[in-house]
Amino acid sequence: MEPNRPSTTPTLFQDRSVFAADYVPEPAPSRMAMMDQLAFNLRSGMVGATPSHVICSGPPGTGKTACVRALFAEIEEMTDRFIPVYVDCRIDRTLYAIHSRVFARLAGRPPADDMEEWDVTRAVAEMMRERKAVLVVCLDDIACIGSRSEVNLALATLLRMYESYPGTKIGVVAIVNDLRYHLAADVDRSVFSVFHPTEIFFPPLYVKEIRGILRDRVRQGLAPRAVPVKVLEMVVERVREHGDIRVGLDLLQRAATLAEQDGRRRVTAEDVCTACESSVIDPRLRVIRAPA
Ligand SMILES: Nc1ncnc2c1ncn2[C@@H]1O[C@H](COP(=O)(O)OP(=O)(O)OP(=O)(O)O)[C@@H](O)[C@H]1O
Ligand SMILES: [Mg+2]
Repeated sequence: MEPNRPSTTPTLFQDRSVFAADYVPEPAPSRMAMMDQLAFNLRSGMVGATPSHVICSGPPGTGKTACVRALFAEIEEMTDRFIPVYVDCRIDRTLYAIHSRVFARLAGRPPADDMEEWDVTRAVAEMMRERKAVLVVCLDDIACIGSRSEVNLALATLLRMYESYPGTKIGVVAIVNDLRYHLAADVDRSVFSVFHPTEIFFPPLYVKEIRGILRDRVRQGLAPRAVPVKVLEMVVERVREHGDIRVGLDLLQRAATLAEQDGRRRVTAEDVCTACESSVIDPRLRVIRAPA
């Protein structure tokens, strides 16, 4: 076998990236209402003022991250005076890590190793002032930052930056997926007095929304007619049972891989059953079933 020769076998996948966790889809039409609400709250950032702060809450897999990332991408295309920064708090859990992420977004490189936390914050403020830029920082899965005091400190340093560095303007979009966690009630009074967030709730997806999202992804990612309607319905049913669309996206990718390995141009019910057997699903997902 010659290792570098491109394969001539037709592939079932047209674009594998649409099944990846970091793929940013166009939000489904049903989620446009949330996208519009978010855009409405952030609109003052477009004219150089501090945007309103927002909490996006809802169970896992309801499109919160997808919605914020899609709007941030639109903002980036429109202006460089209103700068969206996405921070995944599952990865960046400390104040230093969060501010470093903001620094990297503005400077195009991470802070030097010898920069202290306050150096990074000051550099962020100076870059904002130099560029006359307003920021909106998304703290995705903010609960991962840790204790109540750490969450308060992270919010306070962003929301009250204007006190130490006059002229800096930052809006915060916090994302929460644990419905038992009430961020607004959990922050200190001193933080709340500058936070006053608008809450945008992302309800569980209806079955027809699940079907629409999966169908779109099949169209974008796989060859035409690769997934017959009946097979897609099996996947929809599986998502309905588990209440998380990611289960369906993963299943489609696994089932299509099985068909491709077998040299077939169509995914069958057996592929889906085999893919189901090999996928490990978090048993807690069964708690939230998709509404019919
Ligand atoms: N409205 C939508 N349109 C298209 N795809 C969507 C939509 N909502 C969710 N998805 C897809 O479903 C998957 C989960 O979405 P997303 O990551 O935004 O959920 P989430 O609410 O942030 O979940 P979590 O709270 O677990 O982080 C992603 O693959 C995303 O592309
Ligand atoms: Mg998310």
